[in-house]
Amino acid sequence: MADFDPVTKAVVPAAGLGTRFLPATKATPKEMLPIVDKPAIQYVVEEAVSAGLLDVLMVTGRNKRSIEDHFDVAYELEDALRAKGDEERLNQVKEPVDLATMHYVRQGEPKGLGHAVLCAKQHVGHEPFACLLGDDIIDPRDPLLKRMIEVRATYGGSVVALMEVPREQVSLYGAAAIEATDEDDVVRVTDLVEKPPADEAPSNWAIIGRYVIDPAVFDVLERTPPGRGGEIQLTDALRTLASMGPEEGGPVHGVLFRGRRYDTGNKLEYLQTVVQFAANRDDLAPEFLPWLREFLDKAGQ
Ligand code: UTP
Repeated sequence: MADFDPVTKAVVPAAGLGTRFLPATKATPKEMLPIVDKPAIQYVVEEAVSAGLLDVLMVTGRNKRSIEDHFDVAYELEDALRAKGDEERLNQVKEPVDLATMHYVRQGEPKGLGHAVLCAKQHVGHEPFACLLGDDIIDPRDPLLKRMIEVRATYGGSVVALMEVPREQVSLYGAAAIEATDEDDVVRVTDLVEKPPADEAPSNWAIIGRYVIDPAVFDVLERTPPGRGGEIQLTDALRTLASMGPEEGGPVHGVLFRGRRYDTGNKLEYLQTVVQFAANRDDLAPEFLPWLREFLDKAGQ
C-alpha cells in the first residue's frame, strides 16, 4: 500500500450568508443556531475531534464573531457560575474551549464554498485536510469522517461523502457519477455536477458536507472560474481532480453513507433536527415526547 500523508487538520467553512434562514441570520450566523442547547457548529467541531483532528480552521466572515466567542474563554460568565457553585453549567461553558486548537481566517466576500476552501491554503499548506460544512451535522452514532480518512489512507487523492437521495431532490446537491470498487461502501468518482436538473443527474448519489481533500485542490481552485450561481464551486474543483492521475492530485473516491445526517441550513430540516435531538435527550424526552404526541393528536383533529 502506498504511503500517503496523514490527515491532521480540519477546515470548517462558515462564511456563507445563510439567506435561506433570514431574518434569523441577519446578525446571527446560521451555524450558531441552537440544536436544543448547543450551536450546530459545536457538533461539527466535536465530530472533527472524534475523528482525531485537533487542529480546526474556521473560515468566517462578516457577522461571525459569535462563533469565535463561542470557542473562547468567557471570563465573566465563568466567574459568575463559579461564584454560584454551578459546576454543571460551568463545565458546559468551558467545553467548547478545550475541544481543539481553533484557528480563524476570514473570507472577505462570500464568493462560494470553493473560494472559502481556498482561504485555508496558507494554514493547510501541503497536507491533505478534512473539510466539514458548518451547517451539516452527522449523527455521532454513525461515524463517517473516520472512514473517509481511512479511505484516503488507502487510495490517496480526495474523498467525498455520498448519500442516496430521491431523484427529485438531487438538484439541491452536487451529484456524482460512480464506479464500484472492491469495497462495498467505497466508489470511484468519475464525474461530479453541482445541483443538476433531475434528468441530467449522473446518479442519485449526492455529495454531503464532509470531504477529505488533497492539497492539489488549491492550485485547481485558483484556476476554477465562478460556476453555478456565480460562485467558485468546490464541486467544480473536485470534478477536475477526479479526472487527474495520482501524481497530479487525483483520484476522487466516495464513501457511501447510509447513516443519519441533519442539514440545519434550511428551516424544515432544522426543525426536524431539533425535534430528533430533543427526543434523544434523557433530560428532555420524558416530558417532551408525551407533549409532542398530545400536540400532534390535537393538530390532527
Ligand atoms: P450554503 O450554500 O449552504 O450556505 O453553503 P449559504 O450560502 O450560507 O446558505 P444560503 O443558501 O444563503 O441559505 C454551504 C457551506 O459553505 C459555507 C457556508 O457557510 C456553509 O457552511 N460557505 C458558502 C462559505 O463559507 N462561503 C461561501 O462563500 C459560501
